[in-house]
Amino acid sequence: MKRSWRVSGDVLLRMLADAAIVNLSFAIALVSHYIWVVGITGTASDAPAAFRQYLNLFAQNSWLLTLTALIVFHLFGYYGYGRPYQGRYKAIVILQAVAVVYLVIGFLAYLMSYQVSIPRAVLLLSWAVTVALQLTSRLSSAIWKALASAERRYFGVHSLTDRSVRNVLVIGGAGYIGSALLPKLLEGGYYVRLLDLFLYGTEPIKPYEGHPRLEIVKADFRQVDKVVESMRGMDAVVHLGAIVGDPACTLDEELTIEVNLIATRTIAEVAKGYGISRFIFASTCSVYGASDELLDERSALNPISLYARSKIASERVLLNMASPRFAPIILRFGTIYGLSGRIRFDLVVNLLTAKAVVDNKITIFNGDQWRPFLHVDDAASGILKVLEAPTALVNGQIFNVGSDEQNYTLKQVGELIRQLVPTAEVIEMKTSEDRRNYRVSFAKMRRVLGFRPRWTLEAGVRQIIEAFNSGAIQDYREARYSNYKLLSEEWVPYHLQPQNGWAYALISETERGRLLEQHERE
Ligand SMILES: NC(=O)c1ccc[n+]([C@@H]2O[C@H](COP(=O)([O-])OP(=O)(O)OC[C@H]3O[C@@H](n4cnc5c(N)ncnc54)[C@H](O)[C@@H]3O)[C@@H](O)[C@H]2O)c1
Repeated sequence: MKRSWRVSGDVLLRMLADAAIVNLSFAIALVSHYIWVVGITGTASDAPAAFRQYLNLFAQNSWLLTLTALIVFHLFGYYGYGRPYQGRYKAIVILQAVAVVYLVIGFLAYLMSYQVSIPRAVLLLSWAVTVALQLTSRLSSAIWKALASAERRYFGVHSLTDRSVRNVLVIGGAGYIGSALLPKLLEGGYYVRLLDLFLYGTEPIKPYEGHPRLEIVKADFRQVDKVVESMRGMDAVVHLGAIVGDPACTLDEELTIEVNLIATRTIAEVAKGYGISRFIFASTCSVYGASDELLDERSALNPISLYARSKIASERVLLNMASPRFAPIILRFGTIYGLSGRIRFDLVVNLLTAKAVVDNKITIFNGDQWRPFLHVDDAASGILKVLEAPTALVNGQIFNVGSDEQNYTLKQVGELIRQLVPTAEVIEMKTSEDRRNYRVSFAKMRRVLGFRPRWTLEAGVRQIIEAFNSGAIQDYREARYSNYKLLSEEWVPYHLQPQNGWAYALISETERGRLLEQHERE
């Protein structure tokens, strides 16, 4: 409720401009009428007295005109993002709205003729000037925006002054979701800066290297200087970078908190400081943990892993930073499946399909557990949808990303795969290791943004089977396909060692020096 009454700076400016336009029009109409009656027709003989009369007329009525105009313009949708005030209908809406303003003023003039005695010719002229000024101002701003966008498109210029989203910093953009998002952004005409440490290699984004609107920054996003540099000239940030998945996060809990939570806060602080208006954060439906209810964005959270807890904590930090100028948006994705530049075989649908095709076995643990599923391509489309939505609809919002139809039990997933790989055998087992069980409602994103995933689980499974049949994927057990396996390898901790390691080294060195000195003195 509170949020709907918040007037953004942009809306306030538009209201001020409209107030100025109606007052200017009224003044022009009064001056013209004054010149007509004093200078041309000579109906008013005492020019200074007539001038004072017109001045009084302006002083008495301008507030009423301003108030009426702003209320009527608001009712006609001038200050929202509704359909009535879009595109070619704009001119008609302006004509109607301004006519209503002057009809109301004319009516009031008739009712309170002792106080609001505005000549009809003044009202008519003021109406015409207001329409002309409003059309000119709206038209010139539309032309200006079109020119600025064409300039960026053809010259790759990324301006700091135009706040509409064209320049996007994608953090962790070389991963599973990032490599599906990148081509969509480039096709959409965006200028993309991609910041990633390439833990899983550069292969996922290879096809786009050298693209004129793609800039690649290889760096650890815990390095503040790199984050600051990467933020320059950007309009929006999509933060996908993290240690992803329950098993990978348990490898080094301190590191997980540093990468998933502390860095997220730092990145957001830098973005806010830079005046970047939109910050899209990849969270997960894992935050719902274990529950038998159908869960929506307001449901209680029940995290059962460090991974989920690190995401909830990040969500809180980001939502607390929301302001009219900084819009954090939380996307809680379902479990992803399907092909992108980097496929992962540590995710249930991809893994079970791979096992069915390669090993002729579909081993299911805790088959009654529910999960919502989402194709990686739809996850990328969801991000794009939020990037392009009016700020008022998304600022400070949490959206579950997926579709109600793709809530499945793991047993149902196994059955679906078996139908497509009939030679495979389904083996059911119980384990106490993964207790996650959640069925999620995706109504909010459908209702607010009209988002509906295009893929079905069946089409996604067929896509993976095809990738094996064509030889595009060979050994699904390779470490690069699994976050846990790869992060367990020895060379990775070298890249991901705690960023503040130098400080600890220096402190212990200082301590060693002090002890040595003390020892020598004794
Ligand atoms: N894949 C899913 O099923 C799923 C589901 C829900 C939410 N998510 C969320 O979506 C986001 C992306 O997931 P994904 O599956 O693409 O993950 P991913 O593991 O494939 O990609 C993560 C990317 O982040 C990069 N990265 C990690 N630490 C970094 C660091 N310190 N500095 C720079 N780069 C670093 C990695 O190199 C990698 O390219 C994550 O935040 C994840 O929590 C994923």
